[in-house]
Amino acid sequence: MMTASEIRARFLDYFAQNDHQPVSSSPLVPREDPSLLFTNAGMVQFKKVFLGQDKRPYKRAVTAQKCLRVGGKHNDLENVGRTARHHTFFEMLGNFSFGDYFKEQAIRMAWEFLTVELGLDKSRLYATVYRDDDEAFGLWQKVAGLPSERIYRLGEKDNFWSMGDTGPCGPCSEILVDQGEHMSCGPDCGIGSCDCDRYLEVWNLVFMQYDQIDKETRVNLPRPSIDTGMGLERITAICQGVNSNYDTDLFQKIIARAGELAGVAYRAGEETDTALRVIADHSRAVAFLVADGILPSNEGRGYVLRRLIRRALRFGKLLGLSKPFLFEVVLAVVTHMGEAYPELTANREFLARVVREEEERFAATLDKGLGILSEELDALAATGDTVLSGAAAFRLYDTYGFPLDIINDVAGKRGVTVDEAAYTICMNEQKARAKKAWKGSGETDPAVLFLELLESGLKSRFVGYDTLTAQSRVVALISAEGQAVERLIEGQSGFAVFGTTPFYGESGGQSGDIGQVETLTGQAEVTATLKAGTDLTAHHVTVAKGELLLDQEAELRVDEKTRLATARNHTCTHLLHAALKNVLGGHVNQAGSLVTPQRLRFDFTHMAALSADESRRVEDEVNAAILAALPVTRETMSLDAARSRGATALFGEKYGDEVRVIEVPGVSMELCGGTHLSSTGQAGSFLILSEAGVAAGVRRIEAVTGVNALEHVRTMQAEYEQGLKALKTKPGDMAGRIKKLFDDIKLLTKEKEQMAGKLAAGGGKSLMDEIAEVAGVRVLTARLPGVNIKALRDSMDDLRSKLPSGVICLASPQEDGKVALILSVTKDLHGRFTAPALIKAVSAPIEGSGGGRPDLAQAGGTRPEGIEEAFDVLKGLLAS
Ligand code: ALA
Repeated sequence: MMTASEIRARFLDYFAQNDHQPVSSSPLVPREDPSLLFTNAGMVQFKKVFLGQDKRPYKRAVTAQKCLRVGGKHNDLENVGRTARHHTFFEMLGNFSFGDYFKEQAIRMAWEFLTVELGLDKSRLYATVYRDDDEAFGLWQKVAGLPSERIYRLGEKDNFWSMGDTGPCGPCSEILVDQGEHMSCGPDCGIGSCDCDRYLEVWNLVFMQYDQIDKETRVNLPRPSIDTGMGLERITAICQGVNSNYDTDLFQKIIARAGELAGVAYRAGEETDTALRVIADHSRAVAFLVADGILPSNEGRGYVLRRLIRRALRFGKLLGLSKPFLFEVVLAVVTHMGEAYPELTANREFLARVVREEEERFAATLDKGLGILSEELDALAATGDTVLSGAAAFRLYDTYGFPLDIINDVAGKRGVTVDEAAYTICMNEQKARAKKAWKGSGETDPAVLFLELLESGLKSRFVGYDTLTAQSRVVALISAEGQAVERLIEGQSGFAVFGTTPFYGESGGQSGDIGQVETLTGQAEVTATLKAGTDLTAHHVTVAKGELLLDQEAELRVDEKTRLATARNHTCTHLLHAALKNVLGGHVNQAGSLVTPQRLRFDFTHMAALSADESRRVEDEVNAAILAALPVTRETMSLDAARSRGATALFGEKYGDEVRVIEVPGVSMELCGGTHLSSTGQAGSFLILSEAGVAAGVRRIEAVTGVNALEHVRTMQAEYEQGLKALKTKPGDMAGRIKKLFDDIKLLTKEKEQMAGKLAAGGGKSLMDEIAEVAGVRVLTARLPGVNIKALRDSMDDLRSKLPSGVICLASPQEDGKVALILSVTKDLHGRFTAPALIKAVSAPIEGSGGGRPDLAQAGGTRPEGIEEAFDVLKGLLAS
């Protein structure tokens, strides 16, 4: 039996032998294509090559590409687990021709690979072509020797392929395998007439000819090309003679691991089988997503990941799995697929932790949400209704993070559908509210402000990598109110655009330049620079003298000190990124950054807080690179060349055809559009200010460099010296001195308490003289300010020992405005009064309450001025 790995390897080898360049799979996150959430086909990484916007050193390529189909045009999520064929994550084998061979060669090689390399039985193979593609029809006869009754002409739905709503597309031709009579779905079973698995599509050959610009417009590609795609899972199933992709070696080991954890065997029942398939499928997707830098979150790609994890967990629950288990299945994926995809093995521990933590987080909300949903469904069943309102479904989503597909699954089981239209309305309303709230914050969205300029095609050329000054022309002026104007006069602020500018506009996390503009008629300060569009830099200016006029010549000067301070922080951000990878591991990826002249902030993926030792090692590594005064080089090259040299690119970042590579030889190589030092030595020094968590699995480091690091140390030094002075100690003794002071304070407090107690007790002697007699009962009342309750009790003990029969009441107004009161009654009087019985009425004037034993009760109050009245109440009670 041929294993999936062997089939993958054979495919790559066969096409390599036929002059195809083997190209490694691009990440699941399409770096160059914001129109796509995930890579959903092998051709995605070649989109620009098809469109003629990117050139590669090869004209033929072959790949095994990681793909994910969970959203957009190609979405298979709902079918996963329920059919033999659908997956979220899958591998697509593909061969590509970029203006090189076309239909004939593509058909010839596909046929040869299937029938010779894989040895499939020719008599079981069929082909489909686009309805009027006579050429392809003829080629199947000529090249493959297929009789015309085994070639079908189908329409747009089956035989025209496009990547999405826009992008390269063309007619296609598919190869199908007849799985045999026994797989037939009935009398109408046939190619084009049913969707069953008897005639299984295994390979799609797309004759790329057009670019879909928008809904209506389709233009010819510069050169007709070939894009093919064959699902590894399907072809493996066929080669291994099994009817379901889930029965291949690609899935069986993963299913077995899930079954082992749940204590259920595969093929034990429909429900449990579906669950095991879903878990196996989703754990593959989850492993690859996290390895490609996605973390669970509430939006975008992170949300898709979260949904997949949550969906798998719900199916796990069906199997009785209540403790975290998915991370174990994910580890099985790493074990079985790590050889072909080293990024899995490299991130093994990280993957397990991310998934485990997400499992724990969700377990808490899942139980609650499922409970509420089942109540909603019960209520619905009672009314006989079968539609769950969109508002109810939305509430579950909004409050418990319950994805709609889980609601659909649970409701569907009870014959209930969800009013999805109403759900979408609720969702949109919420989005609109959020947007409104954002607009209310008074922020000006530059995209809106500069929309007209952008639409007019205005561009400015950035020359600031090489120079800090430039002669240019004022090509647009915008007032503070957002109006295009002819002039800005002294004191006015607004935006200016110049044909050429050395000012770096805020982008890529780096803040914009500041500086001056001078024209024949005036001078202005540039207080901020931003990028209104890829090629449009806008300068926020305040006119200091005279006026700025549209169309006049201008001299632009970037403030060198600030630019250099920013560059220090930017270059050090790269050094920091590299140091973190070295110290913490390869899983560390940039998750965001901010570079200003004052400091740098760097967010990165890592699960735990850095230990003091790790932090120090990171700091040391960066400083070692600074002290070595290494050159910082920049070079422009094609994205592919940059990648093949191993440059670090950011996930989800959009790069143009040409990229800038910033390199510190032997230390760091990153794609980056920012401005940098020319030698690391210019950074001077690097100091970490703080390290903290900002989101699940994301940490943040803030640091300073150069003069700012010096300033920071000076401020700390000054504070330290003030501290020494205040503590009257010398360097080296500060901590000891502080500890001693704290010990002293503790001791003094204790002494104070004892003293107060003694004072009260000592005063007791004379207090004894104050004893009065009421109705034959000896009674002593005393006010002892500022004595805490413990000392008050000590005094009481002392007084009681001196008064064999009688009632004593001590009250102490405290510093915080409260009153402590205690009252004792000697045993011989208990027939007449007890302490708890008396204290109730006595503490009323101090607005307190309390209780205790017959001989001693205690109360707290809030009205010190009521103390005398309390004593009177006591005497009154004794008299009555
Ligand atoms: N891009 C084509 C597909 O995905 C080959 O089917």
